[in-house]
Amino acid sequence: MSKQRVLTGITTSGAPHLGNYVGAIRPAVEASLSGEFDSFFFLADYHALIKCQDPDVVHQSTLEIAAAWLALGLDPTTVTFYRQSDIPEIPQLAWFLTCMTAKGMMNRAHAYKASVDENQRQSSADLDQGISMGLYSYPILMAADILMFNAHHIPVGKDQIQHIEMCRDIAMRFNHTYGEHFVLPEAMVDEGEAKVLSGLDGRKMSKSYGNTIPLFSSEKKLKKHINKIKTNLLEPGERKNTEDSAVFQIWQAFATAEQTAEMRDAFGNGIAWGEAKKQLFELINKQLEEPREKYMDLIANPGEVEAILRQGATKARLHSTELMMSLRQAVGLRRLG
Ligand code: TRP
Repeated sequence: MSKQRVLTGITTSGAPHLGNYVGAIRPAVEASLSGEFDSFFFLADYHALIKCQDPDVVHQSTLEIAAAWLALGLDPTTVTFYRQSDIPEIPQLAWFLTCMTAKGMMNRAHAYKASVDENQRQSSADLDQGISMGLYSYPILMAADILMFNAHHIPVGKDQIQHIEMCRDIAMRFNHTYGEHFVLPEAMVDEGEAKVLSGLDGRKMSKSYGNTIPLFSSEKKLKKHINKIKTNLLEPGERKNTEDSAVFQIWQAFATAEQTAEMRDAFGNGIAWGEAKKQLFELINKQLEEPREKYMDLIANPGEVEAILRQGATKARLHSTELMMSLRQAVGLRRLG
């Protein structure tokens, strides 16, 4: 029996950050190394165009995120590692899926709703102000990414679960209309992690909020970023709450269960914020030291990364061209004679 497929992507609209690592790269690389799965990992550069209209940022981010995957242990010979925009069948499939997607469902998509809410908050006369069709249809493009390779498991942060559910819904509608073509995917959420990783301000760590901690800055910068994590005004010796603490939450994402229990005790005993942050820096830095060197090496050799991505695209297209051919048949886009 063939292996189950794991697939995930990262949007290339900024520098790779700790949230990408915890939410996607780490679980995905672990799953791929277990040998249990057939893995597909990609750079979501079409998705990047939704949020980022700076071509140089998209370009540089594509290199950085590719290098991050490779530095953190991804083996491009055993997984399929590619750039979304190298697969022309993905936007083709996205159109088929667009025609199978209920508009009402898209109205409920988080990313779109968050923008509407923001307009509402600013008492904007037009609630759709600044919202592109790209943002609105974002979950459909994501569904195309997933369904193109008939992936079973999608390692993502909790905030992406809704998109996986929408993908299942779209796949079901397609299967119902045109016959069984798609596997229904499931979100694979890191068990140890209670929530989405918090950023500097306590909200979800996200490029959109500008509250990220970069994965591969210098040691000094990492320390500086960690020192910027928002805390409250409790003094050393005063008992601190783990529940609402970004410091604790990030600690938990990098620590063993035992280390987490120790930090919980330290919070109870009133550890100083400065000390907790110092320990957090040491914990994270130790895990990133080795990959950081590999990363710097790859950034200095973009041609190497490009070659790896091209090979990945060739591998990916073996699947995507074949599936697209049968889907075209299924929907009636067929030769006339
Ligand atoms: N939307 C995801 C994010 O922002 C990135 C992404 C695009 C993705 N396509 C995907 C993740 C397909 C998993 C599967 O994090």
